[in-house]
Amino acid sequence: MWLPKILVFSALVGVACCKQNFPPGFKFGAATAAYQVEGAWNVSDKSESIWDVFTHDHPEAIIDRSTGDVACDSYHQWQRDVEIASELGLHFYRFSIAWTRLLPNGFSNYVSEDGKEYYSNLIDALLEKGIEPVVTLYHFDLPQSLQNLGGWTNPLIANWFGEYARVAFSLYGDRVKTWLTINEPIVYCQVSYSTGIHAPGIVSPDFGSLMCSKNAVLAHAKAWRIYDEEFRQKYQGKVSLANLLFWFEPEDENEQEATDLVQQLWSGVYTHPIFSKDGGWPPELEKKLAEKSRQQGYTGSKLPPFTQEEKELVGGTYDFFGLNFYTARTARKAQAGEKVGPWPFIGAPDLDVVMSVRPDWKPQASQLFFSYPRALRLQLSWVKQQYGDIDIFILENGFVGYDADLNDQDRVNFYRDHLEQVLLSIKEDGVKVVGYTAWSMIDNYEWSDGYRSKFGLYAVDFADPQRARRPRASAQYYARVIKQHSLDVHDTNKLTDELY
Ligand SMILES: *[C@@H]1O[C@H](CO)[C@@H](O)[C@H](O)[C@H]1NC(C)=O
Repeated sequence: MWLPKILVFSALVGVACCKQNFPPGFKFGAATAAYQVEGAWNVSDKSESIWDVFTHDHPEAIIDRSTGDVACDSYHQWQRDVEIASELGLHFYRFSIAWTRLLPNGFSNYVSEDGKEYYSNLIDALLEKGIEPVVTLYHFDLPQSLQNLGGWTNPLIANWFGEYARVAFSLYGDRVKTWLTINEPIVYCQVSYSTGIHAPGIVSPDFGSLMCSKNAVLAHAKAWRIYDEEFRQKYQGKVSLANLLFWFEPEDENEQEATDLVQQLWSGVYTHPIFSKDGGWPPELEKKLAEKSRQQGYTGSKLPPFTQEEKELVGGTYDFFGLNFYTARTARKAQAGEKVGPWPFIGAPDLDVVMSVRPDWKPQASQLFFSYPRALRLQLSWVKQQYGDIDIFILENGFVGYDADLNDQDRVNFYRDHLEQVLLSIKEDGVKVVGYTAWSMIDNYEWSDGYRSKFGLYAVDFADPQRARRPRASAQYYARVIKQHSLDVHDTNKLTDELY
């Protein structure tokens, strides 16, 4: 009776071998963003972005007083970046276009030949290596010329952004099939206007952040509609936005209401109008902010309402859910008279909610990030529960360290632990996670944290004029996971010469 034995044997092997496998078609990639890697801030006819101006005018706002003037010099070293993407075996490489490089005026009346060619070459080189380009249109680097006209607080930005998107779609849509309109509006609206720590350095927590929020949602929708109407048939691509979600959980069992509210302020503002059946702002949040605005003596809500027409413009403007995920917070209602804030990291003043972390969430180098891998699985289920059984594309996830060590075991553990949760989400919870993106492919310029925060699978030597890139242990680990299409790979406790 050898046949059943073989069946039993292969069934056992089957379980052991494939439990850790990712579904066929699941895609792995890594990401960067233009200002963080390109440098070449003043070459050719490129104009200044708000980050060029902010870092030049306010060195004190950056922890190491650095700028992105040169960064990883990817404007010149892009072939090395493509090589790295290939060494890692990436299925896709996510990068962003600098608006100021493609449209130096900010407007679409003039397209830079050099800008056009730079991204075209990058896209072609990736495709030649079998790597799909995943392109973000806006990753924090607004043309200063548009900032001078109010930037994201001017409702006309939706049109300006739409025009820019149309140029990019028409230049590259034949080759780029996955587009992200805007990256992390929570950061360039809430963090930026609530604290001034990001360009343009304007502090307007009451109005700036919420005006920006509404205009960001409209800008995304405009770009999606333009793709849908003018390009979809021809190019068959997909368009969404990349939302940064923090996982929130109640500090104790009495705090569910405070938790839901802060989750809606953080995650709902940029998702409910786009992904929910009803559209518009999350209703509980809209109510709370209207109430708070009245208490503060305003005649109307600080949260600008949507017209019916706007609601319809925005509703359903997605082809998948784009998720950037890093960390988590607990939430509880503030006690009477307790000082709350600053939003968005440890409190939400308008909601009277205080945020914190649990002792067993492992702090990373930066106090913003605590590792809590299970939160990723919970967050993925939350998205499914809120917005239905849609494709979820993880567009960023990564680990920050302050040292440049190549033997980054902490980062290896982070990726392994988070990818495990992705597998559980797919296999146990039935969530349709379609891809995973490591942030970042290479060390780069981390905004107000300058070059101190390192997220790279590859280390970059910022003292070297060529900005030499070298693989870390995490790069080797990730390359193995991609190659095996499985987490069932032996761990890298030490560096090997695989990628050298
Ligand atoms: C561009 O900026 C660099 C500093 O990053 C400077 O050395 C160079 O002179 C500038 N070039 C032009 C053409 O302004």
